[in-house]
Amino acid sequence: MPVPPHATAATARTTTTGPPATDAPTPVETEAEPTEDSVHTRLDKLRGTRVVVTGGAGLVGSRLVALLHATGATVTVLDRMDAYPESGHETFGVARAGARLVVGDVRDAGTVGPLLRNADFVVHAAAYADVAACTRRPDLAFRSNVEGTQVVLEQTARFPVRRLVLVSSASVYGDGLPGVEGPQAFHEDQPLFPMSVYANSKLWAEHQTRLMLGASARTEYAVVRYFSVYGEPQIPKPDSHSWMVPWLSLQARLGRPMRLNGGGVQVRDLVHVDDIAEATALALTEERMAGRTVNVGTGRPTSVREVADLIAPYFPGARRIVTPRPEGDPLGGYAATERCRDLLRWQARIPVEKGVERYVRWLLETPDATPRWFARQTHGA
Ligand SMILES: NC(=O)c1ccc[n+]([C@@H]2O[C@H](COP(=O)([O-])OP(=O)(O)OC[C@H]3O[C@@H](n4cnc5c(N)ncnc54)[C@H](O)[C@@H]3O)[C@@H](O)[C@H]2O)c1
Repeated sequence: MPVPPHATAATARTTTTGPPATDAPTPVETEAEPTEDSVHTRLDKLRGTRVVVTGGAGLVGSRLVALLHATGATVTVLDRMDAYPESGHETFGVARAGARLVVGDVRDAGTVGPLLRNADFVVHAAAYADVAACTRRPDLAFRSNVEGTQVVLEQTARFPVRRLVLVSSASVYGDGLPGVEGPQAFHEDQPLFPMSVYANSKLWAEHQTRLMLGASARTEYAVVRYFSVYGEPQIPKPDSHSWMVPWLSLQARLGRPMRLNGGGVQVRDLVHVDDIAEATALALTEERMAGRTVNVGTGRPTSVREVADLIAPYFPGARRIVTPRPEGDPLGGYAATERCRDLLRWQARIPVEKGVERYVRWLLETPDATPRWFARQTHGA
């Protein structure tokens, strides 16, 4: 699916900123591999529709917005634009993605309501989206992730929105089922053990979405649980321990040792942001996604150490050091992908080797990609 790299932005700035549907396992009926063509054809259903993307100026949101715009949808972004210092949001390029940008807060019903009044679809991706930051400031996590989600759900329920896609996270699984040795596949229906304020806020948002929209006669919902998203032009947030591909790459690029928290044995299911955008756009229209929750991952575990091994060859002399494992950092697992392949008729297409190569090449070709705060930092980097 071609995405115009520098589509013109029509930028508007505001001053302000029954029972839930069951989510029962579905027998796998089809395992059709998505081809470029089939994805393109299916996304064509979005042509001419009006889509609101909250958090649409962030890493994931901006990629999704560009894709939606390329399909012929009219996209409005609502974002506070303050998740990154320096030019982080600019780097993601929402201003070039062909959307109308409204700078505002999802907690503000007076801003959200008028945007949703004429929307066909909503993707709710806005969140205080960093595990460590949410641990430091649970009050801010609560405001954006809980209160903000409540406002978006209330306002969605007022208008004839066809479907809301809630962006959730694999963090709801925590370390998975107790007593299982080694990396485990996380299945959508298994018990959930959120280990952090962030994960708990995401789980609350999932439940609340089911409770508030599950019985709606006019608005469907779908929940997508992203695994670990990465891909150019991702840059880490200060004092974060998430997003290992950019962290390790930036450390290696500056000639610093790559820090392997807890020895780097944790695994993540690394899913490229292009894949994430595609899956999220499909979740808006795939019929069988109504009222359902799916993992969006590759189905493959990669340890932090393995990622360091993929990065090291691009930086001769790259070193590694072992550092303590931060609080709330799960040992990790990987996505069970059967339900996603079945309901969304989609699977990830970018293998981690390719995605990491793309990221490192982008970093090498973009000398000013390293944030000043990162270059100045003497600890944790
Ligand atoms: N990146 C990942 O690995 C990952 C994994 C699982 C889930 N997710 C989820 O995906 C979504 C997008 O995350 P991302 O990685 O692009 O992070 P991001 O921080 O780049 O994007 C989130 C965006 O939401 C905006 N935002 C935050 N609070 C807001 C508020 N109150 N009102 C309006 N806008 C607000 C931020 O300004 C930011 O642009 C989030 O919901 C996140 O929890 C991300």
